[in-house]
Amino acid sequence: MQRSLGDRLFLVVSNREPYVHGFSGKRIVCQRPVSGLTEALDPVLRAARGTWVAHGSGSADRQVTDAHDRVKVPSENPEYTLRRVWLSDEEVAGHYRGFSNEVMWPLCHIAFVPPVFRDTDWEMYRKVNEKFARAVLDEVGDRPAVVLVQDYHLALLSRLIKAQRPRLVVGQFWHIPWTPYEVFRTCPWREELLAGLLGNDLLGFHTPAYCENFLDTTRHILRAKVNQKAASVTHQGRPTLVKPFPISVDFARLSEEAGTEAVRQEMARLSRELNLAGKLVGIGVDRLDYTKGIPQRLQALGRFLENFPAYRGRVVFIQAGIPSRTDIESYQEVGRQVHELAAGINSRYGSSSWQPVLLMTGQLSPVALSALRRLASFCVVSALHDGMNLVAKEFVASRADEDGVLILSEFAGAAAELKEAVLVNPFAIGEFAVKINEALEMSETERRRRMKAMRAVVAGHSIYRWAASILEQLISLAEA
Ligand code: G6P
Repeated sequence: MQRSLGDRLFLVVSNREPYVHGFSGKRIVCQRPVSGLTEALDPVLRAARGTWVAHGSGSADRQVTDAHDRVKVPSENPEYTLRRVWLSDEEVAGHYRGFSNEVMWPLCHIAFVPPVFRDTDWEMYRKVNEKFARAVLDEVGDRPAVVLVQDYHLALLSRLIKAQRPRLVVGQFWHIPWTPYEVFRTCPWREELLAGLLGNDLLGFHTPAYCENFLDTTRHILRAKVNQKAASVTHQGRPTLVKPFPISVDFARLSEEAGTEAVRQEMARLSRELNLAGKLVGIGVDRLDYTKGIPQRLQALGRFLENFPAYRGRVVFIQAGIPSRTDIESYQEVGRQVHELAAGINSRYGSSSWQPVLLMTGQLSPVALSALRRLASFCVVSALHDGMNLVAKEFVASRADEDGVLILSEFAGAAAELKEAVLVNPFAIGEFAVKINEALEMSETERRRRMKAMRAVVAGHSIYRWAASILEQLISLAEA
């Protein structure tokens, strides 16, 4: 990565920041947010030693930044610069809660939650994108730079940057699915959003299918010229390359961490405290989001216990569900549903010595997550729709012991790569219950064969490979 960058500044822009400073009493503590995006990109920035521009959302964020709103992170071993953008409560309400998460998120995920289109949120979305553009231009100055914009909060940003600095190389990675044209056309601001995204020199999605959906959308809505073979779309005389870059995890780090003494001790502690000795453990690890299919997963687990009674008393399913976007009604609703379903299953099948579902709703440390992944006989990723889903890849990376079964939704981007998972349609509850049984009945030889094959896939396409291929593509555009 450093070789391809040369003397260019590498700048990443996202709404969510990789390190959040908050107060614990009077003390300032630094936390990592629960976000696949920041989790994936932090190692990339550490390696490239660039600058990350993001919303400063922590209560103590201002206390640790300098006069230019910058702070070096991670604080214990500074490797790159975080430039914070300050947003007012009103801006967060309109840009983040409103437009990003009540329009773009439900619009791009087929989870049957309708988007809420409000003119005022759209206005704020535009204003906040402009604010980010000013911060990016300020960071870049006159230097040669490569800018990599992240995700659906900043669909208008690249065009704004390019309008000021046409020679700057700008790419964007879309971490969520791109919806079919028939869905996207319902958005009242469809033209502006698409034109904003076509400000990029390069636009990346996780899978070829999302790229096709995007190209198809621009063809229908903007009447843009699509060159399928060259994977490019031309709008107002400017070309944008549209290509798949399936994101990944830091395979080597996760694989190694899973074998450490700290993880072994945590496994023993969890096993003791949760009474897991002699049990078959299943896990789910998600933000409490309606796209993750957690209610469907619990319904399938209930059906499994009903239809395969020999497993009663033997299986414990641990669902780690980290509260997310809790100001939004549909997120509160999914939280309620998950608690009700878990309580229902426990009261129907549980006993004084056995609870089939354990809910963990606090944030878990990397060591605890690693221990959970190692304890699991099976891991369930049942997203109704998901750009990639890094939990699936993290599970595979942690299983250096080459055991454990991954039950994976067909509708997660990861399913395009992890073909040796037990694939499931999360909407089909009966079938899903049968797949849980299949995972538990699978022979050790078959489990190992599948896990080995999936590990080879993830090891061969780590997060560094992802970042390097996007960077190489961007730099070749700069040099063309
Ligand atoms: C998804 C999105 C990210 C986002 C993350 C956490 O992974 O693609 O952009 O950061 O969810 O959500 P939050 O709203 O807390 O940033």
